Amino acid sequence: MPWETFALNLQKAKTERVACQWNCRAGILVSVSKGAHTGGASKRFVKSTPQSRMNYLQPIDYQTPEFGELYDELPLWSAHFGLSMLQHVEMRPGMSILDVGAGTGFLSIELAQRCGPDSRVIAVDPWTHATARLRRKIQQLGVTNIEVRDQDITAVDLPDNSIDLIVSNLGINNFDNPLAALNTCFRLAKPGASLFLTTNLQGHLAEFYDAYRDTLIELGHHSCLEHLDRHIQHRAAIPSVTSQLEAAGFIVYSAYESTFHERFVDGTALLNHHFIRLAFMQDWRSVAPAGQEQATFTALERRLKSVAQAQGELSLTVPAACIHARKPGSLMEISS
Ligand SMILES: C[S@@+](CC[C@H](N)C(=O)[O-])C[C@H]1O[C@@H](n2cnc3c(N)ncnc32)[C@H](O)[C@@H]1O
Repeated sequence: MPWETFALNLQKAKTERVACQWNCRAGILVSVSKGAHTGGASKRFVKSTPQSRMNYLQPIDYQTPEFGELYDELPLWSAHFGLSMLQHVEMRPGMSILDVGAGTGFLSIELAQRCGPDSRVIAVDPWTHATARLRRKIQQLGVTNIEVRDQDITAVDLPDNSIDLIVSNLGINNFDNPLAALNTCFRLAKPGASLFLTTNLQGHLAEFYDAYRDTLIELGHHSCLEHLDRHIQHRAAIPSVTSQLEAAGFIVYSAYESTFHERFVDGTALLNHHFIRLAFMQDWRSVAPAGQEQATFTALERRLKSVAQAQGELSLTVPAACIHARKPGSLMEISS
């Protein structure tokens, strides 16, 4: 999957040395063992002592190399959706929380801290470069209530009916087999437990796709228009995500919609942007006629430049949703 291409290749030995130093300083007891699930080193966290819960009284040394390296690690694209999740997600002390497709784990870390040490977050992702980084952040930050599993969600062997809250930021509904993932989530969720997922929606980058369509027409590539429409329509919509959730047995309660704008000076800046290249470019390229990609994108870049000149910038709309569903059952233990 394309996000793997920007995974940082961590040096495990260095990671563990840094973590050990940090944890000695923070006074948190951590044992390291080979985990059966992970196929690599996994951490078994020993519950923090009352003193260690007051680590917040200790100053944080921002002059360490590790601090600077990790400070701005969150992809801005994910942040828009993650912040929406944090606005709406249920929070109570003592929750068991499952983060599905956790990536480098900013949401896991936020929830673990915001829900307090009596809550437990299980961060699941088979992308091992990302989970290695998550482990490193956990150690550096001294967060004691996250367990990381390098696994496909369908392979997670947690007990049935054991999870209070499931979150997935830009995750489940984009997986190769969303229904299999949702079926597993349903099995793991306690009756009445909530699932929150975020996604971008149809209408995403509409101004770009209008320019792309006009470019294909200008160049006489009418046979590509159907491919472009298919590509645009594969994006999630509230009804399609609702159907996926209902097919797994969940009941959809709310869909919180929002919109943000990705702004660029022109099409050249857009098309060269690293995240655009990473997340979207190969799909966009596949719409152009084979062998005509360069000519198509030269014309598209020119057209986007005209749009930017006319409007003062290139502003692309991104509709987003945070969708809240529940597993049917008793809400007795779920205080809202
Ligand atoms: C778009 S990324 C989002 C990562 C992170 N939640 C964020 O917001 O930055 C989707 C993630 O889902 C993970 N993923 C894909 N299929 C999965 C599966 N079957 N089970 C668990 N995670 C999966 C990918 O490895 C990737 O890290």
